[in-house]
Amino acid sequence: MVRARIVGTGAYVPERVITNYDLEKMVSTSDEWIVTRTGIRERRVVFPDQATSDLAVEASRRALEAAGVGAADLDLIIVATLTPDMWVPSTACVLQAKLGAKKAWGFDLNAACSGFVYGLWVVDQFIRAGGARRVLLVGAEVLSKIVDWEDRNTCVLFADGAGAVVIVPEDGERGLLGARMRSDGEGWRMVYMPGGGTAIPPSHESLDGRYHYLKMNGNELFKVAVRAMEEVARVVLADCGIRAEELDLFVPHQANLRIIQATAKRLNIPDEKIYVNIDRYGNTSAASVPLALDEAHRQALVRPGDLVLMDAFGGGLTWGAALVRW
Ligand code: UT7
Repeated sequence: MVRARIVGTGAYVPERVITNYDLEKMVSTSDEWIVTRTGIRERRVVFPDQATSDLAVEASRRALEAAGVGAADLDLIIVATLTPDMWVPSTACVLQAKLGAKKAWGFDLNAACSGFVYGLWVVDQFIRAGGARRVLLVGAEVLSKIVDWEDRNTCVLFADGAGAVVIVPEDGERGLLGARMRSDGEGWRMVYMPGGGTAIPPSHESLDGRYHYLKMNGNELFKVAVRAMEEVARVVLADCGIRAEELDLFVPHQANLRIIQATAKRLNIPDEKIYVNIDRYGNTSAASVPLALDEAHRQALVRPGDLVLMDAFGGGLTWGAALVRW
């Protein structure tokens, strides 16, 4: 049976570090509040001249190198992002040009924080249908440019980064074993950016009204996220006939340490099998799962044959889980 297998991972975060102590000087917050409520200690933020594709290209080069695949051999590029470089063209096309991936075609995928996990499922469809053989899937975000740095509800959480994987078809037991995606549009107001699109195009009024910044009802999201991530993970495990105890690594979206721990607890996954890096990077939305996956892989926490469960939740609402045999 042909499966979509990840054969290389890469990640990149901007050099500039913003600590909780830096944030104490900007909004009414404290290191103690941020650490106990979210698990975040510091995050990475781009310089003004850096855009999402600049982070994506570095992560992609590292993933291609790890996979031993040349950019010229890629036939599909998908960039999961809610912070594209611009409206038109897609960041996937900008990335294609930067990489020199002349034979590829590509597009952006917006499923907010679930974008990378959605992307795995999309890539799997192309691979199994024979429509793609060398795929670059990237999750990349520059959330610092759509965060309201005067809003303590959001500016302490979101940050910038990128992660990438190279995926190829392979016959056998390794690769994507199963995945399920969900969305619930009724909840779209829980996290959204009202301005800049066709609903509220840019205007002096939209700028004055701060419509070009993320708005979030964190408390409501928190409750839904834990239930949703647990449910979808259970269904994927059942689909694949795998028990949670058999998992080698759980790589959840890094939205909040308490969400990660509560979800893992409900799934009976012990702490030592959870990969956590939210303390260093905050919530990087679509970049968070591939960034965590790359770190875990480079630390040899993922070995051939290991069962790795990825699980994400985000704006839309969207959520999904994917189980891989490495
Ligand atoms: O990536 C996917 C989308 N996003 C998420 O999944 C986010 C999910 N939600 C969360 O992570 C948490 O709900 C937050 C971290 C956003 C908030 O934590 P919480 O424990 O749900 O706090 P809360 O919103 O219930 O607020 C508790 C208190 C409030 O004060 P009062 O009303 O009790 O006096 C807030 O005003 O904490 C206050 N507060 C803060 N205090 C210091 C809110 N933000 C801050 C802050 N610093 N940054």
